[in-house]
Amino acid sequence: MPDTLLVTGGAGYVGSHCVRALLDAGHRVVVFDNLRHGHRAAVAPEAELEVGDLADKAAVGRVFARHRIDAILHFAGNIQVGESMRRPFLYLGDNVQCAVNLLEAAAEHGVRRFVLSSTCAIFGAPERVPIDEDVSIAPGSAYGESKYLIERILRWADEVHGIRYACLRYFNAAGAHPDLPLFEDHEPETHLIPLALDCALGKRQAMQVFGDDYPTPDGTCVRDYVHVCDLADAHVKVLDLIRDRSRSFNVGIGRGYSVREVLAAVARVTGTTFPVDVSPRRAGDLAQLVADPARIMTELGWRPRFADIDAIVASAWRWRRRYPRGYADLATGM
Ligand code: UFG
Repeated sequence: MPDTLLVTGGAGYVGSHCVRALLDAGHRVVVFDNLRHGHRAAVAPEAELEVGDLADKAAVGRVFARHRIDAILHFAGNIQVGESMRRPFLYLGDNVQCAVNLLEAAAEHGVRRFVLSSTCAIFGAPERVPIDEDVSIAPGSAYGESKYLIERILRWADEVHGIRYACLRYFNAAGAHPDLPLFEDHEPETHLIPLALDCALGKRQAMQVFGDDYPTPDGTCVRDYVHVCDLADAHVKVLDLIRDRSRSFNVGIGRGYSVREVLAAVARVTGTTFPVDVSPRRAGDLAQLVADPARIMTELGWRPRFADIDAIVASAWRWRRRYPRGYADLATGM
């Protein structure tokens, strides 16, 4: 049944891909975004864009008064592990307060479903890898802690207000829409794949590998790169499940690639080589984060369509090559 969905951060990277998938599934979408990090051009024209800040309770209230919202998908927030270790209170304060403002308005307006864009960064000291949902939660960064705090707050939103929720703990979101100009465009960019693509384009001189002395096969960090369209598909699927009950899922493909393997994939896909230097470890980084996606596969029937790092990198390369300055180039029709 089509719903009216409120998508916070719908002009951002994962949010914009999700908006597209929700529209394709027949839903009506209202995007709430302050456009500080997000891009107007990333918002699908069929979605209604409300420009506003989650920190502004009155603005949040107005959105709920204007639209009869059936469910919320919450993407907005500060998202950098490294930054969170320099500015922990930005994360523990803003990220959490904005989620609370949203939940308060949701409770007041009788919204009963909520999907949280959560993260594998809540598993700071996993006792086993691949990581299933029973692995102990112990965030290793202020970013991970802020998401875990929101997960815990959701328990009470359910208990007290009957708001059923899903926490989707993404591993490393990567890639771009294969057909439409939707892609990753952060300012500043800190993520491995887009930075390496910039090296391939000649926009950056060299790649820095943050540490090659981790206890992994080649000494560099191992991550589970999950395609952003596969993440979007998980959101579409989970909306039905949470009509009845709340549930958390780890969302990754179940296969890890080291930083060096990703850089090799970028070189293969782009047909370029670029210098790679080793620099010290980045605070907050963990050696290995790979999902065990058994639960989401069994309970939601979710299957990643992109299971190969070259295919993921190629989808991002398509748009990065065409729009080297990201949405700024798209807006000027370059
Ligand atoms: N890396 C480098 N050099 C760079 C950039 C990254 O070596 O220039 C390494 C990082 O140390 C890490 C890996 O590449 O080992 C991936 O780093 P990203 O910055 O691309 O992604 P993160 O793993 O740090 O963070 C991402 C999301 C977070 C999420 C986290 C969970 O941005 O929101 O995955 O691991 F919480």
